[in-house]
Amino acid sequence: MLVSNMTKTKAITREEYKLRRQKVLDYLKDLSEKEGKNLKAVLFSDKQKTFSNDVRYPFRVNSDFYYITGFTEPNSIAVLDPFSDNPYQLYVNPIDPLYTIWEGHREGLSGAKENFDADISYEAEDFDDEKEPDSNGKSSETSDITFFIHSLRSIKSNAEIELMRRSAQIAVQAHRVAKEIITPGIYEYEVEAALTQVFRQQGGSGWAYPSIVASGENSCILHYISNHNQIKENDLILIDAGCEYEYYASDITRVHHASGSMDQEQQDIYDVVLAAQKAAIESIKPGVSFLETHNITVSVIGEGLQNLGYIKDGKDPQQVRKFFMHGTGHSLGIDVHDVGIDKKETVYVPGMVTTIEPGVYIKEKAIGVRIEDDILVTKTGYENLTEALEK
Ligand code: GLY
Ligand code: MN
Ligand code: MN
Repeated sequence: MLVSNMTKTKAITREEYKLRRQKVLDYLKDLSEKEGKNLKAVLFSDKQKTFSNDVRYPFRVNSDFYYITGFTEPNSIAVLDPFSDNPYQLYVNPIDPLYTIWEGHREGLSGAKENFDADISYEAEDFDDEKEPDSNGKSSETSDITFFIHSLRSIKSNAEIELMRRSAQIAVQAHRVAKEIITPGIYEYEVEAALTQVFRQQGGSGWAYPSIVASGENSCILHYISNHNQIKENDLILIDAGCEYEYYASDITRVHHASGSMDQEQQDIYDVVLAAQKAAIESIKPGVSFLETHNITVSVIGEGLQNLGYIKDGKDPQQVRKFFMHGTGHSLGIDVHDVGIDKKETVYVPGMVTTIEPGVYIKEKAIGVRIEDDILVTKTGYENLTEALEK
């Protein structure tokens, strides 16, 4: 029986959202000056997608829109216009008695202002990009500020880091529960169900990406999600699963043995991946680049595979790539594959969160090993947000 250890984690404050919007407004003003135009930005919350007939998927708001507004309803539009008397405009679905009966709460036009700090609100269906004159009577042009928002999103605030810690904690707990039930004869989907139960029971909205429970040969399929196979006696089981908590993702991978102890070939590969992950994590500090970390990972894996006889030259990246064919990690945040980090160019800055997830996949031997943790870059180095989970 699981006991909830849910502690109420403080969500992002309205002040923080205001600050984010102010940064965008200042940026638009500067850019407008440079380009001799009046620039504004428009963001969309997205539409709710259909599952079948009149049944819809649960709505998940667009990440950039959410980051700027904190507003989570579908079909909404935010306009940020530094040249308007109402710089922050929200277009939302109005309160509708029929919607209230069937679906429940909506903020409506008054909620958009009172609870989400819009300077002015309109009905979403009245949105017309061309129609809004600024105080000088001329229309602002729309600017693509995706790049700027992504650069803001790549550095997490203290409040965001708190949410990510909680997301990580829940995922750690889920992985532990999943490990406990692994035994030859059960199905991958039973393990998946155990993960999902913890995600929800601990107050997460569910997974941050479909959980991967991959036994035997499936462990070599990087994004295997059908999870329909039965676990056999000598299988490795790769579990790659993370939850979404208050819109923040965790992303963890661990590998277990069906019967509890790996054979020599499995253990050898596991040890190579573990050594690579350790070296990669230890390289992280401000000023070091993503590419440097990746190169460290590749060299440790290369040396390990050469020693084990899988490749002739461990220094040849092409040979290593045959068994380690993905990146060492990716930015993590509101999206599991988060934004704002270019894997070749980016240098670590405090507040960035990245996964470190080397892997080695030997399909002919049904050995797929990936080990993944979530690493926060700090002023002096790093903090492993998922360190508590045993390897
Ligand atoms: N869960 C997908 C990944 O690790 O990138
Ligand atoms: Mn990942
Ligand atoms: Mn993962």
